[in-house]
Amino acid sequence: MSQEELFLDSGQNTVDVKHSKSRSRLGLVVTGVVGGSLVALYAVAAPFVAPALRKICLPFVPATTAQVENVLKVLRTRSGTLVDIGSGDGRIVIAAAKHGFLASGFELNPWLVWYSRYKAWREGVHRSTSFHISDLWKVSFAQYTNVVIFGVPQMMNQLEVKLASELPSTAKVVACRFPFPTWIPEHTAGEGIDTVWVYDAKTFKSALEHGSIRKMTQQHDTDS
Ligand SMILES: C[S@@+](CC[C@H](N)C(=O)[O-])C[C@H]1O[C@@H](n2cnc3c(N)ncnc32)[C@H](O)[C@@H]1O
Repeated sequence: MSQEELFLDSGQNTVDVKHSKSRSRLGLVVTGVVGGSLVALYAVAAPFVAPALRKICLPFVPATTAQVENVLKVLRTRSGTLVDIGSGDGRIVIAAAKHGFLASGFELNPWLVWYSRYKAWREGVHRSTSFHISDLWKVSFAQYTNVVIFGVPQMMNQLEVKLASELPSTAKVVACRFPFPTWIPEHTAGEGIDTVWVYDAKTFKSALEHGSIRKMTQQHDTDS
């Protein structure tokens, strides 16, 4: 190979190396962008998918406008503190605050909690609302006199026991779409998927006490 050919060949090699370097840089950038997007997508989607993987699956299904109106209608003579258990995007808490309640939401999904806080601020009720990133089973609702729950049938039995033991006897509980299995509602409002059931704590607490006294008596009878 002549000197001139060697020179041309090495020039070609330099161009090839430059091309392959810029291609590998582009590859790194594309990998970074795709990887970053997947991580971001996972971070956003995971809290929405996570409820489906729990023992009791309580997905994010927002209350309909009629459902929210029914909740406000059955609580129109009430005031004070209100909690929405599993508050989703905060629509019940915000609507309640606009009707004078000191309203709180407990929600597992952090995106929904941040969105709720933003919406409460935008709608001018951030002073009378609070949103907490919490698991409903790990929180005590003892301080609330108005309780709203849009749950699923699989959780209502366990929630009956929790609320009956925690709530003051002045409390009212409103169940949306799915009623509690053993409590007797004092009244209902709406129809179909927008139905809400209202329960009085005095009634379900005394039923719980009588139930446990009955259980203790039965236990005592079997023991003696
Ligand atoms: C059916 S949605 C109701 C949303 C809202 N209350 C409404 O009526 O528009 C139930 C909500 O409970 C939340 N959730 C599920 N499991 C939870 C848990 N263990 N603790 C707190 N919130 C939970 C879900 O993320 C979802 O936003």
